[in-house]
Amino acid sequence: MFADSTPLQSSAVINEAVQTLRDGGLVAFPTETVYGLGADAKNPEAIKKVFSTKGRPTSHPLIVHLAAPDKFDQTQVDWVSVLAPWVRDLSEDALTLVNTFWPGPLTLVFKKDKSVLNELTGGQDTVAIRAPAHPIAQELLRKFKGGIVAPSANRFGKVSPTSAADVRNEFEGILDLMILDGGNCEVGIESTIIDMSSGDKAVLLRPGVITPKEIFAMTGVKVYQDGGVKHEGDDVNLADPSPRVSGSLKAHYAPTTPLRLYAPGRVLDALSEFPDTKSRVAVVVWDSESSLVLEDHPSIDAEEVVISSDATTFASRLYRSLRDLDQQGWDLILFPEPPSGEEWDGVRDRLQRACFGSGPSSISHDSN
Ligand code: TXA
Ligand code: MG
Repeated sequence: MFADSTPLQSSAVINEAVQTLRDGGLVAFPTETVYGLGADAKNPEAIKKVFSTKGRPTSHPLIVHLAAPDKFDQTQVDWVSVLAPWVRDLSEDALTLVNTFWPGPLTLVFKKDKSVLNELTGGQDTVAIRAPAHPIAQELLRKFKGGIVAPSANRFGKVSPTSAADVRNEFEGILDLMILDGGNCEVGIESTIIDMSSGDKAVLLRPGVITPKEIFAMTGVKVYQDGGVKHEGDDVNLADPSPRVSGSLKAHYAPTTPLRLYAPGRVLDALSEFPDTKSRVAVVVWDSESSLVLEDHPSIDAEEVVISSDATTFASRLYRSLRDLDQQGWDLILFPEPPSGEEWDGVRDRLQRACFGSGPSSISHDSN
């Protein structure tokens, strides 16, 4: 699925990336969800570098990325031996999810093996693991022959990158950061995270494109949502020294331009919050809707930006749109509220957090 559009990196470049990781350096690499900022999961100094480069508190745990077993064939894959060095108590349900969705945009939280570094788990006794599907990520992991920790390759609290150029923009000052270019990320929002560490109950920590409904339909495993929008966010709830699940919406994925959502047909209500008559406003509209009439507000310089009303396509373009709009000098960005339905939970979550943290002072929200 990546064959034609993905500029694959030469094996010499991948070898150089492997050497960089072995030397304790950082390598940004593409995954199918967003770009990750990778480091050797067994090197405490390299892990510290990930936190300091992102500006992320060290109590926020990282995801370990693993290579799929060599001969990838669903019926024969031995994920148990891949996971054995990292986790203990691999439940039957967890193995079912692994066999069904890996490699892919699903992260599972397990009880950790004692050899897993506390530096990467934020001192918790659990570890988050995923096997990304992107061929460059897989090639890197296979050649590295070890786990790679990789948070999204953005500065703490900012929009996750979905292209190599986005990563470059995020870390402009770090000239020697190696970035593998795998084109645009297909999924576009971060992986779904499910906590399997209790042994008997699967709990959704972060919504993504793989939904509880889909998981149930494909495996019969019931995923609990624990009271709706309770889930994990790496850049949230700083009051909690070991954030696992945050019930409150905080800054994350935030553009510097103020961002607001509008209810169906209520663009003018959202605009009334911004009485500045000279406002330049980008109004994002569904492609399924006829164009908006803003004539009642002649003083506002509004422009429509069309976005897909298909949840998967919307997710794949969301961060791209937020980044592009943020650079165009608007005074305000308005997005339509995503409709109800589980397939929209991932993008609704990211948009709500982006609204909360948006605006010129968004950096100060992060230290709340
Ligand atoms: O799609 C993705 O997951 C991307 C790509 C690069 O793989 N990675 C990503 O990493 O989104 P990051 O660090 O930006 O977000 C990881 C999330 C955080 O919310 C973190 O708190 C949570 O995973 N997490 C990590 N370890 C955990 C654990 N042991 N228990 C609960 N949550 C954990
Ligand atoms: Mg992140």
